[in-house]
Amino acid sequence: MDDLNVSYGNVRAVRGVSLAAAPGRVTLVLGPNGAGKTTTLRAVAGLHPPVGGRVVLDGADVTGRAAHVLVRRGLALVPEGRRIFGPLTVEENLRLGAYLAAKAEFEERRERVYTLFPVLAERRHGPGALLSGGEQQMLAFARALMSGPKVMLLDEPSMGLAPTMVDTVFDQVRAIADTGVAVVAVEQNADAALEIADEVAVLDRGEVVFCGSAADARSQGSVVRAFLGEAALAEPGRTAITPPDLG
Ligand SMILES: Nc1ncnc2c1ncn2[C@@H]1O[C@H](COP(=O)(O)OP(=O)(O)O)[C@@H](O)[C@H]1O
Ligand SMILES: [Mg+2]
Repeated sequence: MDDLNVSYGNVRAVRGVSLAAAPGRVTLVLGPNGAGKTTTLRAVAGLHPPVGGRVVLDGADVTGRAAHVLVRRGLALVPEGRRIFGPLTVEENLRLGAYLAAKAEFEERRERVYTLFPVLAERRHGPGALLSGGEQQMLAFARALMSGPKVMLLDEPSMGLAPTMVDTVFDQVRAIADTGVAVVAVEQNADAALEIADEVAVLDRGEVVFCGSAADARSQGSVVRAFLGEAALAEPGRTAITPPDLG
């Protein structure tokens, strides 16, 4: 995304945000509540059209395209709160994620997803509602993977999970990227998420206030913490670091 601007009526929630995602990489977007993380993902996914800027997918400008068009072109959003279909079985949830796929494609993807998440295979005939929080997050990842995405947008995957599940969920995010998917993960859980990220950006009040490699951020943990801490405290107008060049 390049210089993305998104508004709710007169209120500008996202201001000039530029971020890049690449196959096999995890781009982590950190930021406090209300920073504009969800708004950014929804604008990219075609759920809330931006008022300015561009979304480029595989070299094509897809700004403002409808969500169902973007799904077909390889973009999948895993929404905040997971939104799995509780009364439906695990397998029925997966089928909904693959509504565009032919039968053979569905079966192939289902087997891949069950290999990545064996516990879902064990629970395939049980209702989604009976899964634990961590398992429901797995199902949300798996359902998105069933559309065969090139890019996955994850909105706070660790939110509301038991602390013991948080590292597991981030290991799964890493595993998804390692299959070649470009992952953009939005989080408030900075320390755990940084462990598996490649690039990191910090969003504050709709703006990118820090961006760099996750390795740098890990070795200088205080830098990112300062930006995150500052995000809650500082005045607007402090130095923004140059976002990545989209070419
Ligand atoms: N549907 C909406 N209508 C009006 N304002 C909204 C709406 N959704 C979010 N906002 C506002 O936009 C800003 C960014 O929100 P959001 O993207 O949800 O932040 P985050 O996901 O980082 O917590 C906040 O100030 C929030 O109050
Ligand atoms: Mg949010």
